[in-house]
Amino acid sequence: MPGEPLLVARNIRKQFPGVLALDGVNATVRPGEVLALVGENGAGKSTLMKILAGIYQPDGGEIEFLGRPVRFNGPLAAMRAGISLIHQELNLAENLSVQDNLFLGRETTFAGPLKLLNNRDAGRIGAGLLQRVGLPVSFLSKPVGDLPPGQKQLVEIARALGLDAKLLIMDEPTSSLTQTETDRLYEVIADLKAGGVSVVYISHRLAEIRRCADRAIVLRDGRNAGELAKAELTHANIVRMMIGRDLKQFFPRHHRKPAGGTVLEIEGLTFRGGPKYPASLRLRAGEVLGMAGLVGAGRTELSEAVFGLRAITSGRILLGGQPICIRKPADAIRAGILLAPEDRRMNGLVLEDGIGANLSLPNLDRISRFDMVDANAERTLHADTIARLAIKTPNAAQAVGLLSGGNQQKVVFGKWLARGPKVLILDEPTRGVDVGAKTEIYALIDELAGRGVAVWMITSDMEELLGMSDRAVVMHDGRIVGELERNELTEEAVMNLATGVGA
Ligand SMILES: Nc1ncnc2c1ncn2[C@@H]1O[C@H](COP(=O)(O)OP(=O)(O)OP(=O)(O)O)[C@@H](O)[C@H]1O
Ligand SMILES: [Mg+2]
Repeated sequence: MPGEPLLVARNIRKQFPGVLALDGVNATVRPGEVLALVGENGAGKSTLMKILAGIYQPDGGEIEFLGRPVRFNGPLAAMRAGISLIHQELNLAENLSVQDNLFLGRETTFAGPLKLLNNRDAGRIGAGLLQRVGLPVSFLSKPVGDLPPGQKQLVEIARALGLDAKLLIMDEPTSSLTQTETDRLYEVIADLKAGGVSVVYISHRLAEIRRCADRAIVLRDGRNAGELAKAELTHANIVRMMIGRDLKQFFPRHHRKPAGGTVLEIEGLTFRGGPKYPASLRLRAGEVLGMAGLVGAGRTELSEAVFGLRAITSGRILLGGQPICIRKPADAIRAGILLAPEDRRMNGLVLEDGIGANLSLPNLDRISRFDMVDANAERTLHADTIARLAIKTPNAAQAVGLLSGGNQQKVVFGKWLARGPKVLILDEPTRGVDVGAKTEIYALIDELAGRGVAVWMITSDMEELLGMSDRAVVMHDGRIVGELERNELTEEAVMNLATGVGA
């Protein structure tokens, strides 16, 4: 591709306590290209992008932007220069209107004319920005908190465009978007590209990368593993470069025995704040029951009610044929019903605590004798879990909040492994997890099911649903609208039910 690069990063180094996150990384971004940045969990992708966006300072190396050496002392300086990072955890003020959010911070960023921005001008400029990302102008007055995640993200993009971004960095932008929202995002990316804006796109969904990227830079263990041009962006090539070997088999083969007797039965369940339709569901021993549906269909809420996080208002739950009373998560855990939640940062982990402490907490009864924690048993639990899930960390004391996204997910999973669950509810078990670790998690799910655990797997990842489920149910608008046996399980059948076509 001709022309001067927009950005060149040379020999970037970043050291965290105990972790060399980036060890001499090079990257170039060309004008108007969509550059994918891929690599395993912990490879250094987010760290590199935070450096480009002025959030972290590098310990070594240099950055050239628009042909000049730059050093951003904070995100504002980077934004002013034209680099915006769209975080996965979005950065909007929920209770302010879309218009206020679009201009928030601009007063200081662009001291001068914009300081005097009157409401009419703000409305006019704001309307233009919303149009560029395909949102209706009427949204200007809506509180951001009322918008679904995909639209919030478009507002963030609109804001970056208002700051005249030349480089937009998106770190796992689609992980909580619906399919429609994802498609919309692609259109916006294509428009940005046509308008000369460069986009760096981080994702673990390799199909997305193949669809939208012009080129990929692959990181491995904080170093450059290589680069792939558009024509070379095949699944196999990306994986090989990411993990340094071929992945023969993504999903475990189904050698599972036909599912056993019913373990969990949900009968006509309604719960506070839930849909008015009662839900009924059966889970058999040794099966993986996939649960599909669009984001917002009510899957997470239902699983939370079963786990004791939402007050049940009618119906009952039976475990092994016996009705059980679940008022709080402790009741569920004691009964052997465990939940690995979708939002691990909010519900799954104590971020400031170490990996070890997070693993010990739900397993104290297993690693204690006479009410005292047995240090040896605890060490073994930590070491086994870290090794079994290949959690990338300098040691078990590392604070979970400092782990890369995918490694946090593994800790959530690891907490429950030692407990020998009867029912394991996994809500988006591989969101943000790299391909290699996905294979490991799939093998683990398969192994647990093989040992008779009933696995209830909520997933928005079609490939995962089709590859892992023995049976699937589909939710739409708060209701379970269909059930598909493995031989009926196709993308089309699922989408028809999920979008309400078949309901
Ligand atoms: N603030 C921090 N303090 C200590 N270690 C950190 C910090 N931020 C990142 N790390 C470590 O640096 C390494 C690179 O992390 P980074 O978040 O860049 O990975 P990533 O490629 O984005 O991974 P993922 O795909 O899981 O999001 C990891 O080992 C991570 O634990
Ligand atoms: Mg990351």
